[in-house]
Amino acid sequence: MSSSKPSLVLSMLTDLDPRPGDRVLEVGAGTGWNAGLFAHRLGARNVTTIDIDPSVVRTARAALHSLSLPVEVLCGDGYAGVPARAPYDRIVATCGLRQVPFAWVEQTRPGGIILLPWGTDFSSTEGTARLAVSDDGASASGPFTGLVEFMRMRAQRLEPDTHDAYVTEDSKQDAVASTTSLAPEVFADYSPAAFAIGLRVHAMTYRRGPKEDGAHPLWLLSLTDRSWACAIFRGNQDSHTVYQSGQRRLWDEVEAAHTWWAEQGRPGCTRFGLRVDADGQQAWLDDPGNHVRQ
Ligand SMILES: C[S@@+](CC[C@H](N)C(=O)[O-])C[C@H]1O[C@@H](n2cnc3c(N)ncnc32)[C@H](O)[C@@H]1O
Repeated sequence: MSSSKPSLVLSMLTDLDPRPGDRVLEVGAGTGWNAGLFAHRLGARNVTTIDIDPSVVRTARAALHSLSLPVEVLCGDGYAGVPARAPYDRIVATCGLRQVPFAWVEQTRPGGIILLPWGTDFSSTEGTARLAVSDDGASASGPFTGLVEFMRMRAQRLEPDTHDAYVTEDSKQDAVASTTSLAPEVFADYSPAAFAIGLRVHAMTYRRGPKEDGAHPLWLLSLTDRSWACAIFRGNQDSHTVYQSGQRRLWDEVEAAHTWWAEQGRPGCTRFGLRVDADGQQAWLDDPGNHVRQ
């Protein structure tokens, strides 16, 4: 069973800003601790929490009921929301998403807030998206408030092929060498650059390889084919060797995205935001009309 760090819970509750009497849906019941906090503040009957894991649900339900908190603890896929208990003033996810379901917009009242850890396939670093539902209920939009890393929602977990499926002997023969001046810090945990690059590049992910002979390899893997790239980061050098193989030149794509990010003034995640409507989701920079294009 998984719970979230108390400091993280506190900052999410601050962002969510629930008011007494608000009706809240939490997606990702976990231990039930967060739901207990909501129940204390909003009244247990205003709180619905859902988890996909039946054993987690049993434990959370028992914990909440032992405290005489009649929170509705449901078992199911929270991606669909819980329409039977809608509308909500607040929906909060405590697992990370790559796609925001429009069902959550439909189940939140106009002016209500949807708060969720949201990211791309590129990196595990996510931004907390704080989306306000529009007056006509047709969309939700808002900025990211900070960088986080959460357990990813089931069904949105990425399982690319094994390393060996990408890096075959043939593909190594085809690899083209070049150099890069991108620093390894770009790919660190909670890196604003990696978050921003993820908004620009299409269907790829990165992995750090095991340290070898004092070098730190970083692998890029395509999610559309078996293209790969590998940068060999060594110490404090300014320039690092890169190998690229396959139809896509993944490292070049990442460099172009990094250049774009630098040209925008190296924005942190709070300059970015997300808009969701019936047609899907769109990331933006500074203004909801300024779309981040892949
Ligand atoms: C970090 S834990 C939640 C912590 C919890 N809020 C607490 O107070 O302890 C994430 C939870 O999300 C659940 N989860 C993952 N995918 C889900 C889905 N599609 N629908 C509902 N819950 C899901 C996991 O089973 C896990 O219990």
